Amino acid sequence: MKRIGIMTTGGDCSGLNTVIQRLYRGATLRGWRTIGILDGTDGLCTTPPMVLEFDNDTLPIESARLAGSFLHNGRAGALNFETAAETGKLSQFNKQLRKSLTDLKLDALILIGGNGSLSLAWRNRDIYSDLQLICIPKTIDMDIPLTDKTIGFNTAVQQLTSFCDQLMLTARSHHRWFVVQTMGRDCGQLALNAGIAIGATAILIPEIKFDVNSLIEHIKNFPRDYGIILVSEGISLRGHSGRPADMISRKLTAAKICNRTAYPEHTQRVGDTTAADRILAARMADCALRAIENNETYVMTAIKDCKCETVSLADFFAAGDVTADPNIPDLQTSDAYVSPDDPLLDIATSMGIYLGEIK
Ligand code: F6P
Repeated sequence: MKRIGIMTTGGDCSGLNTVIQRLYRGATLRGWRTIGILDGTDGLCTTPPMVLEFDNDTLPIESARLAGSFLHNGRAGALNFETAAETGKLSQFNKQLRKSLTDLKLDALILIGGNGSLSLAWRNRDIYSDLQLICIPKTIDMDIPLTDKTIGFNTAVQQLTSFCDQLMLTARSHHRWFVVQTMGRDCGQLALNAGIAIGATAILIPEIKFDVNSLIEHIKNFPRDYGIILVSEGISLRGHSGRPADMISRKLTAAKICNRTAYPEHTQRVGDTTAADRILAARMADCALRAIENNETYVMTAIKDCKCETVSLADFFAAGDVTADPNIPDLQTSDAYVSPDDPLLDIATSMGIYLGEIK
């Protein structure tokens, strides 16, 4: 009987519980035991490790749609790969993790994580050399290379869309604009997708340079006197520091455009998991379990051309390299960011949405 560990690391998002539940059910049907590691790598830093053995009552199907992670994602300030490296304790930290995995007698570990967690898993891969390491990509940022989808993104787009739909009504009543700051780190996918869904007036994303005067002109010439300007948290404006939405709001106020700012913040990471994310979770969980059966290791589940398959962590890591973008001078790009030929850019433009200085 195989023993499978499951761990969620990094920021949470909706869909984690669905994938945990699908993994548990799929493993049980194969006659395997599943052990949930609590609090991400924190759970491996204690002796004995903090774990939860699943049974039929641990995560019933009806609660598998709930946001958050039933296994928790770890406490802020806890020792992790980065803080351990900074304080010169990385080898001690790695030794502890390796010992805990050995003590748990795991045949495989399924790590559900974002870009940072997966990169760290690859960089510190020796820890996992005695078992099979299978990763499942989750993030609302959609910044993971080599996969067209990540768990949690679709729900985040839905949450942001619903938030903006409500704001649009009050914006209309008062003839004013809302500058809404989205999450997403250095990747503009979340803002771009929600912006198209709500019919934003402008979408500012880190991958595309914009000009404040052109933005103001666009708003002033817009056929409506209300709407939403979506600002991705990763944008910057030369000579300004502080929150991007505040910077843009001040510029609009100076140009006599009546506006308010709004911050959906962590509401983008919660909300009942959408059907699309649940289906994605089921596909990725199934792919991860098949990878264990096929004796694979150091792989990540990925969606490519509508198929769910595994890609090697080495390839994932290499594809995440940030380089200069030949199409947009002065900008950096990677396989994980919005690419200049992303079809959604054309759609947004054809909807009359201001996207910045794209030709
Ligand atoms: O990576 C997910 C994410 O939600 C980002 O979009 C955001 O910048 C960050 O995490 C927020 O992190 P925290 O939960 O630490 O505030």
